[in-house]
Amino acid sequence: MAVSKALMSMPRRIQFFAACSRAIALLLALALFIAPCSNADSAAPQTSAVGVHGMVVSESDDAAHAGVEILKQGGNAVDAALATELAVGVTNPAACGIGGGGFMLIYIAKVRHFYALDYRETAPLQSRPDMYIRNGKPDEDLARDGILGVGVPGEIAGIDAALRRFGTMKFQQIAAPAEKLAGDGYVASEHLGKEIETLAPKLKSDPGLSQVFLKPDGSPLKAGDTIVAKNLAATLKGLGNDPVTNFYRGEVAAALVAFMKAHGGLLTAADLANYRPDWRDPIHHRYEGYDVYAMPPPSSGGVVLEMLGALDSGHLAGLGVNSPPYLARLIEVMRQGFIDREQYADPSFVGVEIQKLLTDSHILELRERAMHPKTSPPPPAAAHDHGTTNLLVADKDGNVVALTTTINTVFGAKMSVPELGIILNDEMDDFAVAPGVPNAYHLEGELANQVRPGKRPLSSMTPIIVTKNGKPVMTTGGSGGPTIISGVLQVALNILAFHLDATSAVAEPRIHEQAAPDVVIVEQAMPAATRSALEQMGYKLKVVPNLGAVGAITIAPANLHGAADPRKGGGAVGY
Ligand code: DON
Repeated sequence: MAVSKALMSMPRRIQFFAACSRAIALLLALALFIAPCSNADSAAPQTSAVGVHGMVVSESDDAAHAGVEILKQGGNAVDAALATELAVGVTNPAACGIGGGGFMLIYIAKVRHFYALDYRETAPLQSRPDMYIRNGKPDEDLARDGILGVGVPGEIAGIDAALRRFGTMKFQQIAAPAEKLAGDGYVASEHLGKEIETLAPKLKSDPGLSQVFLKPDGSPLKAGDTIVAKNLAATLKGLGNDPVTNFYRGEVAAALVAFMKAHGGLLTAADLANYRPDWRDPIHHRYEGYDVYAMPPPSSGGVVLEMLGALDSGHLAGLGVNSPPYLARLIEVMRQGFIDREQYADPSFVGVEIQKLLTDSHILELRERAMHPKTSPPPPAAAHDHGTTNLLVADKDGNVVALTTTINTVFGAKMSVPELGIILNDEMDDFAVAPGVPNAYHLEGELANQVRPGKRPLSSMTPIIVTKNGKPVMTTGGSGGPTIISGVLQVALNILAFHLDATSAVAEPRIHEQAAPDVVIVEQAMPAATRSALEQMGYKLKVVPNLGAVGAITIAPANLHGAADPRKGGGAVGY
């Protein structure tokens, strides 16, 4: 159905409902805006805060506090972001950690410049495009659970590269909070408790994971229990102030390689020694007078920029936040954005025409496709889970860091190196196991994203930073596989197009459409009347409790307003 038809067919009662829900949202927003306060010293986790000197938003409250501690010690946004990253790797161990990798977008105020760091995992040198084919058939589980899913970790190389280039502190100073959390123990969040419970049968079969996350009788540790990760604490300490040498060529490398050998893995000493993070040119597009900066491929930042571009030029004028006609427009634009995503891959291996994809003429063409969509294939079930983590930092000097990092699915490969306390990623699943075979997130494999030795898999992780008149005004990013792309888009629009504050922008219910499967996923918090309006327009909906987690910071001259996503918990800590 064309979006214009959808617009015209909006019944009166829905218009009335949309007006009511806007009024309720406004009241909620007012209540939430009054509630946030500077909370650096308060004990209870808060997902919303206002700060003057600095702000850290993380999917872990302990990690957000770790970041603010570093800011208070005189560190800048980069120091604080890296301390938060190491800490969240301890407290959200099912989502991220030093066995994984990510993307970091950095704005340095002094030089008014953006930097993009890609420290995504790479495919081991011994990997091959057909490595997941058995008896002529693709076996995607091999890429997901177990040793063949493991890519070369980029986390420590990325942290070290950013710290050396823009930080002011030594590695041990920024690692101190993480070491303390791992060594002394941390209280498991609701979210982690659920993840341990769900994955308990798999954790049981891994000696390192069961030692940390299960009780001696084999039952899972729960939310509120204290989790101690002594071996991880020792590994972090042992990295000293030259973490790259230690991790990629020293004792950690030796233990990782020995573990791989013993378990039939592909990763070798040469893989670790050859790993390099890549400084890339950030990509950029305008949206309604704002400049939006994002990660280039193999991240999906370009997809968000294409979608925003297609909604530019007053294209949402007069539509209410989460009104059915707005959502219909969003669905069609998301669908076309995800179709374009099939062209994205590691640019070192495949010619991704990112500049062409971001031209006005291509974006106009995407908008046309969205206005006149063709029918798509029928829907299988859609995936969503909660690995990965995003964090955002803004400091008093105007520096901003937005980063997303992951070990991919919950507890990654479901394997750990016990003596190191390192949980191994299953990032190889983000490659196309074979053309047309969907990965864990039902994203279908394309040739461009085929496995090659040394190649980085395509990612949905896409932190963004937005400026107006040359100054950062907001940043956002999220976790949740492909729902990162749609979530970042919606939170950005909630702030830039609908002028919601960070807390309300993050709290608004979200939808997700990724072209295939042909089903629109809708959060259950989306009002029933809105859902039925979408169904009347012909959309097939699948209702889920929630879609990923997206955080945001809005940056005004007088203050910083941070919001972690209450869907996953975490913390916004300002000071
Ligand atoms: O890079 C990616 O796109 C995925 N490895 C992200 C995984 C993720 O967000 C897990 N949560 N659902």
